[in-house]
Parts: sequence; structure tokens; C-alpha cells
Amino acid sequence: MKTQMNVAIDGPAGAGKSTVAKLLADKLKFIYIDTGAMYRALTWKAVKEDMDVNNQQDLNALLDKTDIQLINRSGNLRIILDEEDVTEKIRGSDVTNNVSYVAKHSLIRQKMVLKQQKLAEQGGTVMDGRDIGTAVLPYAELKVFLTATVDERAKRRHEEQLEKGLPSNFNQLRDEIAKRDKLDSERDIAPLKKAEDALEIDSTSMSIQEVVDHIYELVVERDGSVE
Ligand code: DC
Repeated sequence: MKTQMNVAIDGPAGAGKSTVAKLLADKLKFIYIDTGAMYRALTWKAVKEDMDVNNQQDLNALLDKTDIQLINRSGNLRIILDEEDVTEKIRGSDVTNNVSYVAKHSLIRQKMVLKQQKLAEQGGTVMDGRDIGTAVLPYAELKVFLTATVDERAKRRHEEQLEKGLPSNFNQLRDEIAKRDKLDSERDIAPLKKAEDALEIDSTSMSIQEVVDHIYELVVERDGSVE
């Protein structure tokens, strides 16, 4: 039986969804589900096997023989692909630049969506992605559409990379983010789109903590069991 609500967080790449969703889930003692990581895991395997990311049939066959698990280990979400921990590996640019092609296929999306719906069956989740409020959890009790300008999102990624001591080029990041926005919002199946009943939060001039606190208050208003 479902006892707690589900929170859906959608929005474009780099808007801070995963950081916000993770912190919010910790605060609520809910489970965080990173749906982008599922598409990334499949993409990582496809790239490793040198497959054509535009070939839906081959990718679908690959997905059928792939096991993807999201496991919470001492407060950290780990992505396990066929028993291998790929949590860090799926963040590389080879995956980032190919994942939108993998995620546009209807057969792939159908299977991923079913998996995601199953994970949220019991409630008590914060799920982030692109189509959570519109397709995966259309009945989620709270839907948030988190945005920020392309420049702001590129600036955040740029600073993140520099902090990690990694090379970074702001203009290149901005172009990549704009390209992913276009691919994600113009695809035929479940494009990135705000659900009609989602609440839009523009985080351009807000801190992560402000966004988390704001959504937390909305959950408290709607779910009597959370204080
Ligand atoms: O959130 P992310 O950057 O890790 O997502 C990776 C890609 O997966 C992104 O380009 C869009 C796609 N995606 C999707 O189509 N549907 C989701 N629910 C989550 C991600």
C-alpha cells in the first residue's frame, strides 16, 4: 500500500535537479531515484560495445540482456550495471554526448518507464528526470519543473569541473547544454515538457538550499505525515 507521496522533479540538463532531489530525499527520508542514470548506464554499455546509438532494435536487444539496479548504499545512490558499479563511469563526456540519442527511442523508454513506476509503487520517492510528471508518475502528488538560464547552467557545470580539477571550457559547455535541451525537448516521445500541474521554479538566482527548502515546504503542506 502506498503510504507516502512521490515527488517528481523535471527540468533541463544542469538545472540542479539531481543535487536538489538528493538533498530533498535525505531531508524527507525518502528514496532518491535518478532516472537519467538509467539511460546513462545503458548508453555506457552501448558505447563500450561500439554500438550505433541510433539503432533502436540493437539497443532494445542490448537492454533486454542488461541488468540496471539503483542501490542506496549508506545514503549514496550507486548505479549497478550487470553487477559492475558504474556510478562514476556514466558521468563521462562520451556518455553525456550520446545519451540523448539513446533516450529518444520509444522501445527503450517504455521499458525504463515501467521500471521507474515499479520503483515508486510504494511512494516515498523523489524522482528526477525529464518526463516524470508527464509520463512516469502522472499522478505524483507534487510535481516540480526546475529551470535556470542556459548561461547559468553552463556556469555551474564549469565551476563544478574546475573545483574537481578537471579541464573545462565554458563556451563548449554552453553549446553542449543547449544542444541537449534541443534534443530532449524536440524528440517525439515524452519530450522534456512541464506538466500542466507542475510548479515551475526558476533557480537562476536561488541557492541549492533555497530550492530544497522551498520544495520541502510544499511537501509538508501536502503530506500530513511529514513535519
Ligand atoms: O539527467 P541526466 O543529464 O543524467 O539525463 C541524461 C539524459 O537522459 C538526458 O539527455 C535526457 C535523458 N533522460 C530522459 O530522456 N528521461 C528521463 N526521465 C531522464 C533522463
